[in-house]
This record gives sequence, structure tokens and C-alpha cells, in this order.
Amino acid sequence: MKNVVILGSTGSVGVQAVEVVKRSPGLRVVGLAAGSNWQRVLEQAKLLDVPKIALWDAQAAQDADRNKAYMGLEYLEVLPGQAGVEALACDPGADLVLHAVPGFRGVRLLLKSLENGKRLALAGKEALVSAGELVRPFVEKHLILPVDSEHSAIFQCLQGEDPEAVDYITLTASGGAFRDLSRHELSQVTPTQALNHPTWRMGRKITVDSATLFNKALEVMEAHYLFGLPYDKIQVVIHRESIVHSMVTFRDGSTKAQLAPPDMRLPIAYALHFPERKPSVPESIGPFMGTLTFEPPDLERFPCLSLGYEAGRLGGTAPCVLSAADEIAVEAFLAGEIKFTDIYPILKAVLDSYRPKPADSVEMLEQEARWAASQARELINTLTRR
Ligand SMILES: NC(=O)c1ccc[n+]([C@@H]2O[C@H](COP(=O)([O-])OP(=O)(O)OC[C@H]3O[C@@H](n4cnc5c(N)ncnc54)[C@H](OP(=O)(O)O)[C@@H]3O)[C@@H](O)[C@H]2O)c1
Repeated sequence: MKNVVILGSTGSVGVQAVEVVKRSPGLRVVGLAAGSNWQRVLEQAKLLDVPKIALWDAQAAQDADRNKAYMGLEYLEVLPGQAGVEALACDPGADLVLHAVPGFRGVRLLLKSLENGKRLALAGKEALVSAGELVRPFVEKHLILPVDSEHSAIFQCLQGEDPEAVDYITLTASGGAFRDLSRHELSQVTPTQALNHPTWRMGRKITVDSATLFNKALEVMEAHYLFGLPYDKIQVVIHRESIVHSMVTFRDGSTKAQLAPPDMRLPIAYALHFPERKPSVPESIGPFMGTLTFEPPDLERFPCLSLGYEAGRLGGTAPCVLSAADEIAVEAFLAGEIKFTDIYPILKAVLDSYRPKPADSVEMLEQEARWAASQARELINTLTRR
């Protein structure tokens, strides 16, 4: 039996992880954490007979504690606030922690788990990208199992291979909701349109990031930190069908790819069950039919992708600053404050005005992320006053 903690259990990845665990007799959830959605966490605790939950929002934790008895959960321990979620991230009873908390707020959770020797199934890419330099020693100890479908694909292709034999890797991208729009059309799109991804159902931030290709920028940096490859060995192709999840090309000229339907339950289950493979979806997957297409990304229309390479090559605190600025820009777009096409110039301006520093502590990252957020906010305010 493997004991699992799920951080971010009420989100898109978290809910699918709960579904995978429900179908997996070898997995037991010993803790669930979320931000404020206490009703959903209580339902999940009931469904999976979980002994402990944590809610970042202290008021939500109080509400959960007050209401748990109505659901027959008198025994349930409710840990409040940031300290409660951090305690779950390094729960002594957990063999594996699934990290599915978006944004910079996931950084301390990520480090808490790793510093306490926990194996991590990692979806929270902003946390990894922000704290990449601090996480490196834990990657070397093989403590991180990727959940992002592209990185899971690379990880699967690398099994049984000599890492030295890798020539380069290719991350695939669906191209997002606006892959066929012109620059002019892109300037007119609404948040509702941006949230309508063609192949994946995901949380709001990652869906907007997919539409700008900033998600792929994050993934390029994520791949650099997870697989230790230089940036010129990490390529991106647009693959509309989202069937090939990524590829590894070896020095003998052979390429291995991992194929599967676009269903996050598959990479989630792979990470949770690793090193075993277990059935994770009820439907049987027949042979692949149809055409697979690959095309280069259009950096003129989707320049956010190039920022991942730029910040990645700058290194130090630059990836953290870029990611923190994006969180603010995406929020502003979703709130209707800025246009979709304003996101790139905001990120570019923040990165251009930044002198990266060595990323040597979480406090340093917090300080730089705050700076990036305030710079991005200032730029947004300037745009909204136009
Ligand atoms: N969705 C996907 O298919 C997918 C695929 C690959 C990678 N990822 C990555 O996985 C991460 C999660 O994405 P998502 O789409 O699942 O996001 P989401 O749907 O927005 O869910 C976010 C989850 O995090 C919880 N949360 C927020 N703040 C928290 C805090 N301070 N402490 C504990 N929990 C907190 C939320 O709780 P409340 O509900 O209470 O707010 C919710 O459970 C992101 O980094 C994303 O890039 C997602």
C-alpha cells in the first residue's frame, strides 16, 4: 500500500488524482489540501476515508471543522492555514506527495516536501520553475516524478536509457485555443474564449498560459530543471492532436515518443504508481487511427514562448521573476483589465528591466517574486489608464 497526500485536491489535477486513487486498491490517501473549497475537500475526505485535511484559508478550515460532523467525519483532523498545508506537505505518514498547487504559492510546499525526504509527483510547474536552482539536488536524488504530460512522456522515454545518449528532446504543444488566429484577431479575444482549450480541460491559469504559449515557456524551463539539459537541446513543436506527448532523440538518430489520449489521469496514474503501470481509466484505449501533424511554433504570433528560453538562459532568479509577472498578467487579463496581446509586452518589460541574482534561498525568491508582481501591476495600471 502506498500512502499519498494530495496538495490542491479540489483543482483540475487534484480531482482527477482523486478519481485515479478511487480506482487503485494499492493507493491510500492520508491527507488532502486545498485553498478554500472546504465543501469539496470534505466530500473527497468522505469518499476516500481520509484522516486529515488542510485548508490554506483559515476561515475555510474553521468552516470545515464546524461542518465535518454533519458528514459523519467526526474523526477528521483539520489543519488550518499555511502552516497546516505545509505540515501535510511533509506528513510523516506519506510515501508520496502529489503537488498540484498552481503559482508561486506552491514554492514553499515543494521545498517542504523535498527537504523532508518526500518523493514528489509534481504538477505545480510554476513552483519548480521558480525554485529550480534550489530543487536541483533533489532532482539528482530522483525524488521528483513529473506529472505534466510532456515531462511524464520524456521521463517514460528515458526509462532504461543512458541519459548521456540523449541528443535533444522535443516538447509537443497543442497550440492552445487561438492557434489559428491572426495577430489582429488575437487582440480581440475574450477571457471566455481563452478558457476554451481545444483538447485539455484544465484550471484557468494554465488554460490562458496554453493560449499564449507561456505554458510551453514554463515547460521548457521545467524540462531544463528536471532533465538537466541545456536550452539548445529543448525544442518545441505544435502538435494539434495532443496524442504524442513528447519525444526524445538519441545520439544514434533514433527518436522515442510517448503516445496516449489527451487525458491527465494517465500521467497522474503513472506518477502515483511508478515504477508499476496500472490501469487508470475505465475506457479501453483502442489502436490510434488518423493523422498526426507537427509544425514549428509561430513566435511572431506567440512570442511568450521565447521568454522561457530567455529567462531560462539568464538563470538564477530570472525564471521566478518571469513566472511571477505572468501570474499577475493572466489575472489582469481574466479580470478584463488588459487585452490578451498585452500579456507579452508586460512580461517582456519586466524581464528586460531585471538583473537576475543567484537563487540561493526561498526568502530571496519571495522578495524577487514580489518585485516582479509589483512591476507587472504598475505596467497594467499604466495600460488601463490609457
Ligand atoms: N490542469 C491540468 O491538466 C494540468 C496539467 C499539467 C500541469 N498542471 C499544473 O498543475 C498545477 C495545478 O493546476 P490545476 O489546473 O489543477 O489548477 P486549479 O484547477 O486552479 O486548482 C488549483 C488547486 O490548488 C488549490 N490551492 C490554491 N491555493 C492553495 C494553497 N495556498 N494551498 C493549498 N492548495 C491551494 C486549489 O484549492 P481551492 O479549490 O480551494 O482554491 C485547487 O485545489 C498548475 O501548476 C498547473 O500548471 C495542470
